[in-house]
Amino acid sequence: MDFVRHLLVFLHLLGMAMLIGVLMLQLKAGKEARLNKGWLHGSALQLVTGIALMLLAPLTHQDYDHVKLGVKLLVLVVIGVLAVVNVSKERIPAWLAPTMGGLVVLNVGLAVFWH
Ligand code: HEM
Repeated sequence: MDFVRHLLVFLHLLGMAMLIGVLMLQLKAGKEARLNKGWLHGSALQLVTGIALMLLAPLTHQDYDHVKLGVKLLVLVVIGVLAVVNVSKERIPAWLAPTMGGLVVLNVGLAVFWH
């Protein structure tokens, strides 16, 4: 089971990298650009890998803080809803990309500093 946990953490970290990469692309694309679909893919990957890590905790002998994971889940749901609502729009508001990026960074901070 150790290998499964490591594989999920590996994918979880790649998902984080994907979201930061998409943030860079979105900021580079400028004000006229539509929302990059990578936001949806990165959020979905974080959701699936995060929930799998959480559900497998008894088998992988991990004792995660459920309040912390609940807050991370809430932050990710906000990112996901913002992505779904805006992905088909011709134009996105200027605050959207910095806000979504800030929420991703917030979740990295929660993951690392909340003990
Ligand atoms: C934008 C969304 C997210 C980001 C950027 C993110 C980021 C991270 C990072 C950087 C770590 C590694 C921390 C470390 O090893 O010290 C981590 C671990 C973890 N994350 Fe997330 N996360 C996100 C969403 C979620 C969600 C929604 C859940 C589940 C509800 C979740 C569950 C976990 C768990 C269980 C671990 C510990 C893995 C382990 O070492 O066994 N994450 N996350």
